[in-house]
Amino acid sequence: MLFFTLLLEVIWILAAEGGQHWTYEVQLSLPSTMYLEGLPRKYVAAQLHLHWGKTGSLGGSEHQINSEATAAELHIVHYDSDSYDSLSEAAPKPQGLAVLGILIEVGETKNPVYEHILSHLHEIRHKDQKTLVPPFNVGELLPPRRDQFFRYNGSLTTPPCYQSVLWTVFNQRAQISVEQLKELQETLFSTEEEPSKLLVQNYRAPQPLNQRTVSASFIQVQSSYTTGEMLSLGVGILVGCLCLLLAVYFIARKIRKKRLGNGKSVVFTSAPATEA
Ligand SMILES: *[C@@H]1O[C@H](CO)[C@@H](O)[C@H](O)[C@H]1NC(C)=O
Repeated sequence: MLFFTLLLEVIWILAAEGGQHWTYEVQLSLPSTMYLEGLPRKYVAAQLHLHWGKTGSLGGSEHQINSEATAAELHIVHYDSDSYDSLSEAAPKPQGLAVLGILIEVGETKNPVYEHILSHLHEIRHKDQKTLVPPFNVGELLPPRRDQFFRYNGSLTTPPCYQSVLWTVFNQRAQISVEQLKELQETLFSTEEEPSKLLVQNYRAPQPLNQRTVSASFIQVQSSYTTGEMLSLGVGILVGCLCLLLAVYFIARKIRKKRLGNGKSVVFTSAPATEA
């Protein structure tokens, strides 16, 4: 549980390649009392931010699992505090950062934990606005199954894209409601003056893997069937078995009838025989 009030703001980042081009992040500052366990060094939290797509788009995540993108993605950024004094000092160094990636998809219900962030977006609609977010349990932004994740050495997804991030991307997705996604896609502006332009599509397209190894913390089941397909396959097999049983039953009955018929004809033919 966090006991700190958190600062929420939209960060403007000058994209190095474009020159005139800006990219934006809605960012929540995190206290360094939060840290990651289970990594070779101590990584303390610095900030979290979100990436999303165009208005109405269900593709806005930066990571894809089996080529599947989700509506949005949350990144919780940590830096190696054993080796460096600050996020900016650690950012360009190999494995200076450790980022948790959480894929966000649209589900049936409103996610109360994500609402701690989303409900404050309207307070920072324009450039340089900041607001304070009351304390909440940041850990609950993670999906329930935290033992299943992918890990690889990669880069920051915003310029200057340093190759300094030890990535942990969870296999399970977090869910927000369609209204919450709309809030994320339609609240913030990327322009200072009229006409206002919505802040959308602030994700980086997937990059080539190059020689990187992505390891998984779990065995991925190589089944290409979804639950629905498995269910219909099961029903199909059941119906097939029933048909076969019925067929066997009717064939058996037919054979029995035939036998009985043969018997009758024997009796029938024997009758005149005795008569004779
Ligand atoms: C990341 O790179 C470091 C240094 O080269 C290496 O020791 C580590 O095993 C790599 N981690 C992964 C998950 O590939």
